[in-house]
Amino acid sequence: MSLFSSPCNDELLSLLQRREGQPVSGVEIGRCLGISRAAVWKRIQGLRLAGYKVQSMAGQGYVLDEIPDLLTREVVGGWLRGAIFLPGRYHYFSEIDSTNAHAARLAVEGAEEGTVVVADSQTRGRGRLGRVWESPSGVNLYFSMILRPPVEPRHTAQMTLISGLALAETVAGLGVQGVEIKWPNDLLLNGGKLAGILTEMAAEEDRVHYVVVGVGLNVNGQMLAYSPEIQQIARSLHDQTQKTIKRAPLLADFLFRFEEWYRRYLTHGFAAIRDAWIENSGIRGKQVRVNLMKERFSGEAVDMDHEGFLIVRRQDDQNLVRVIAGDVTPL
Ligand code: BTN
Repeated sequence: MSLFSSPCNDELLSLLQRREGQPVSGVEIGRCLGISRAAVWKRIQGLRLAGYKVQSMAGQGYVLDEIPDLLTREVVGGWLRGAIFLPGRYHYFSEIDSTNAHAARLAVEGAEEGTVVVADSQTRGRGRLGRVWESPSGVNLYFSMILRPPVEPRHTAQMTLISGLALAETVAGLGVQGVEIKWPNDLLLNGGKLAGILTEMAAEEDRVHYVVVGVGLNVNGQMLAYSPEIQQIARSLHDQTQKTIKRAPLLADFLFRFEEWYRRYLTHGFAAIRDAWIENSGIRGKQVRVNLMKERFSGEAVDMDHEGFLIVRRQDDQNLVRVIAGDVTPL
């Protein structure tokens, strides 16, 4: 569907955003929204008061020059495309304990697939293995998606891989180079951690009730805002680009890319993801250190199998090991 095919259903903000810098006349807006020109002007003033820069161009109409860097439904909803992540399923909080925790609460209450919980800051952001995810306000992305894939519980880790792939593409789409996916759940930039993914689920033996995929992406965070420990390992998009990046279109772009891959996955299975993942990870042939629950070893990452597990050739005995869970760090 073309972006402009149904403007009459769109709200004012969405209409202006989708014109990407081109003016929209007051007459057209009035017709689309079914309101008078005076009411259009009032609505434009309302946007201005909310922090949007809307220019009036004599004889041509209104142009959206700048959006505030907010992650509210009003702002992000205007950028959303696709059919799974809809504005009506979008939940925004200026502060929350953890978007993963809240998404799980909503999922238990029956929230639909495509529900997204987004927060400007988290007081108890969590990472894998009980780690804390530092979540200062106003700078980064912290969000969680509810999915209900018809897959076996052991395959839900594939949601992490799909997210990593969509995230790598989203960042590459900004022109940022040197991003790599680190199996299974990190995004690296220049050897540091740019993003982390935490996938949690509720399932019975053979049936998944819900999956919550939580993503933390360091966007504009300046490293001084973090604890010394995190400064050592974290990277942000701002570090790399020296630019302040708007989070709303970035989040919408990720959700759209994720949806595309997810649909392919549901139709064709994990095989449809595997090659693109391998290409974006640069993992094949790399020397890695593998940390499992009970042992550690080094070796060469030779492949990812058809289920998404990593195949590593151990350096000591040259045996091939299928890594199902653990940390795999490039050397
Ligand atoms: C990791 O690298 O250990 C995973 C980090 C995941 C952090 C995100 S931030 C949004 C979502 N809510 C949370 O509490 N955690 C995830």
